Amino acid sequence: MIQSWWAVPTLQIPTPHSPLPTPHSPLPTSHSPLPTPPKMTHPIITAESLGKYYKLGRSPERYQSLRDTLASQLRHMRRGLTRRRRVAPSLEDGFWALNDVSFSVNQGDRLGIIGHNGAGKSTLLKILSRITEPTTGRIGLRGRVASLLEVGTGFHPELSGRENIFLNGAILGMGKVEIHRKFDEIVAFAEVEKFLDTPVKRYSSGMYVRLAFAVAAHLEPEILIVDEVLAVGDTAFQKKCLGKMEAVGKEGRTVLFVSHNMGVIQALCNRGIVLKKGQVVLDDSAQKAVSTYLSNLETAVSQDLAERQDRRGIGNIRLQKIEAYTADEYQSSTLATGRPVRFIFSLNRPTAGVSCIFTLYDQYGNAVVNFNSSIHSQADQIKDNLHNQIVCECDTLTLMPGRYRMNVAIFKAKELEDYLEAAAMIDVKDGEIQGRPVLSGIQPGHLAIPHRWLMPA
Ligand SMILES: Nc1ncnc2c1ncn2[C@@H]1O[C@H](COP(=O)(O)OP(=O)(O)OP(=O)(O)O)[C@@H](O)[C@H]1O
Ligand SMILES: [Mg+2]
Repeated sequence: MIQSWWAVPTLQIPTPHSPLPTPHSPLPTSHSPLPTPPKMTHPIITAESLGKYYKLGRSPERYQSLRDTLASQLRHMRRGLTRRRRVAPSLEDGFWALNDVSFSVNQGDRLGIIGHNGAGKSTLLKILSRITEPTTGRIGLRGRVASLLEVGTGFHPELSGRENIFLNGAILGMGKVEIHRKFDEIVAFAEVEKFLDTPVKRYSSGMYVRLAFAVAAHLEPEILIVDEVLAVGDTAFQKKCLGKMEAVGKEGRTVLFVSHNMGVIQALCNRGIVLKKGQVVLDDSAQKAVSTYLSNLETAVSQDLAERQDRRGIGNIRLQKIEAYTADEYQSSTLATGRPVRFIFSLNRPTAGVSCIFTLYDQYGNAVVNFNSSIHSQADQIKDNLHNQIVCECDTLTLMPGRYRMNVAIFKAKELEDYLEAAAMIDVKDGEIQGRPVLSGIQPGHLAIPHRWLMPA
C-alpha cells in the first residue's frame, strides 16, 4: 500500500503551472490594504503530459510487490526523472487509457478525481503511486506517498498484519521507534487486533482494506492516494475513513481521492478533476467537477444504449435497450411512487442462462436499491417466450419521487459480459402508498414504505 520515494533531488520539478507575478498587478494605494505576499507554493504533485498506452489482448500488468516497487524507485532515483520520449500511438493493437494528462496539486489540496468507468482514474493513481509506469510524460512528487488502491495491491500476502505495518513504515522511511509510536493507533483504527499475527492473505477483503487504510493514513505520508476501495468496508468504517481523510487534509497533507460518490467528493475535496476517456475535461472546484460529471452522465444516458462505447465486460452479450414503465392497466412510461413497475432489459442475443444485476443511485451517487436476478425467490419465473429480454417486476414501487440513475451488469457463467454506468435515468413522480400521498420536495429520504399509525383517541 505504501509507496514512497524521497523527494529531494529527483522530484522537484519546476512546472509551467506555477503562478508568475505579472507586471500588471495593481500597486497598493493608500486606501487598499497591503496585498498579502503571494504564497510561494511549489506544487507537491505535477503531472505533465501523462499518457498510458495499453496493448489489447495482453494480460493485465502484474501488480508489483513492495519490493519491486522499491527497487524500481531506487532505479528512478539513480537515473533521475527523465522525460520520456513520446511514443506515437499504434492504432492497430491498443489504446490510450490516459492521454496528455497534465495538472498540478498544491500541498494541502484534497483533490477528487471523478469520471465514468474506464475513464482512467485508477490508471492515473497507479502511475502516481509508481505501481505502473506512464508511457509518455512524467510526474513530479515532493513527498512521501502512501496509496490505497485496489485490494490485492501493496501488502505482502505471506506476511502478517504486524509485519506488513513495519514493512510499510520502513519503506516510508520511518524508524522503528516512530512506527512503534503509530502501531497501536493503526491496529485500533483497523480493528484487527486478533489477526495481527495472521498472514494477510487469510484476511477477508474488509479486514484487508481496514488495515491497508489504517496503515496508509496513519504513517504520516505527505501525500495520501485513495482509490474507491472504501466501498468494500461497511458503512461505519467508511465514515471513519472519511473522517480520517478529512483530518489528514486538515493537517495540511495532500489527499487524492477517487470515488463515484459525488456526496463524498463534495464533502471531502476542495478541488476536482473530471477525466473522460483518459483526458482531463475539467480541473476546478469539487463543486464544479461534480456538476460537470453529473451533466456528462445525463448526456451519456441520452445516447442510444447499443451505440455506447463506455462499457465494460467481455462483450459477447450486450445490453441494447432498457424500458421502464408502469405495469398496470394504464401502462405508461411515467413511473410514480406506489404503482407497479416493470423493467425490461433487451439484449443482443437470447438470454438463457444470463443474469442481470442493476442498482439505482440517487443524484449524488449513493446506492439506493439493488436488484439481482441470481439471488432467487419463489416468485421468479422461467419463461420460454422472452428470447432476448430479461424482465424485472415490482408490485409496488416504494421509491420516493425523484430522479435515479441505473447501472446495469449482465453476467453469464459468472463472467461479466456487459456493464454500463448510467445506463438509464428513472424519473419517479408523486404518487401514493396505500392511499397515503407521497409528494416530492416535502418528505426527505429515498423510500416510501407502506405503514399505518395507531393514534390516541
Ligand atoms: N492492465 C491493463 N491492461 C489493459 N487495459 C487496462 C489495464 N488496466 C486498465 N485498463 C483499461 O484502461 C482503461 C482505464 O481503466 P481504469 O481502471 O483506469 O479506469 P477507471 O476510471 O478507474 O474505471 P472504474 O471507474 O471502473 O474504476 C479501461 O478501459 C480499462 O479496461
Ligand atoms: Mg478504477
